Amino acid sequence: MTRIVSPSMLSADFGHLERDTRMIDRSRAEWFHIDVMDGVFVPNISFGFPVLAAITKATEKVIDTHLMIVEPEKYVERFVKAGSHYVTFHIEATEKVQECIDLIHQAGAKAGISIKPKTPVETLREWLPQIELVLVMSVEPGFGGQSFIEGSTEKVAELKRLIAETGSKAMIEVDGGVSSKNARELFDAGAEALVAGSAVFKAPSPEEEISKILEA
Ligand code: DX5
Ligand code: ZN
Repeated sequence: MTRIVSPSMLSADFGHLERDTRMIDRSRAEWFHIDVMDGVFVPNISFGFPVLAAITKATEKVIDTHLMIVEPEKYVERFVKAGSHYVTFHIEATEKVQECIDLIHQAGAKAGISIKPKTPVETLREWLPQIELVLVMSVEPGFGGQSFIEGSTEKVAELKRLIAETGSKAMIEVDGGVSSKNARELFDAGAEALVAGSAVFKAPSPEEEISKILEA
């Protein structure tokens, strides 16, 4: 099965964003995870288009954008145009799920849906056949550096079964408190992409931590 690491640029050093982007670009990580927060859907504000532009200037790798914003239908198209290959929005953040999926696809990117820790996987059933990615949050969205919520691995396994049952081809990504310590159980449960922010950027050697996750 595929194993992808998607370092969360939220934990990068914004004073040296180009340096950190090039460092991840040289590493074995295939994706860049871009956390966009609006201060409404989550109690924190991160960054938007200008920062994304600085990152896409310094890498050709896959841009995996995670929107933690209300009414994502207003912005998904712009995030594709800004260079996102995957645009993931929260199912809790919109009533226009179909519109979001369609706008992302029409703009030429892959569509992902994310669920918060307390949102059951069952809420995804009707959308699974149409999307390319499900992002399972293993912390409450809003901040990097939180501890992995126990039980998230079982949720991944449950989602894996639902994906098979619905004939979906969606890939599972897990986000929050992920490191080389819990990567193995997540890959074993069916995750194919793992987001890691603080585990990568706070490691003495980010490249080494990325390799450890891939080889967990
Ligand atoms: C949290 C973000 C995550 C976060 C991950 O709301 O979606 O992507 O940056 O950071 P760590 O890996 O430190 O939990
Ligand atoms: Zn994220």
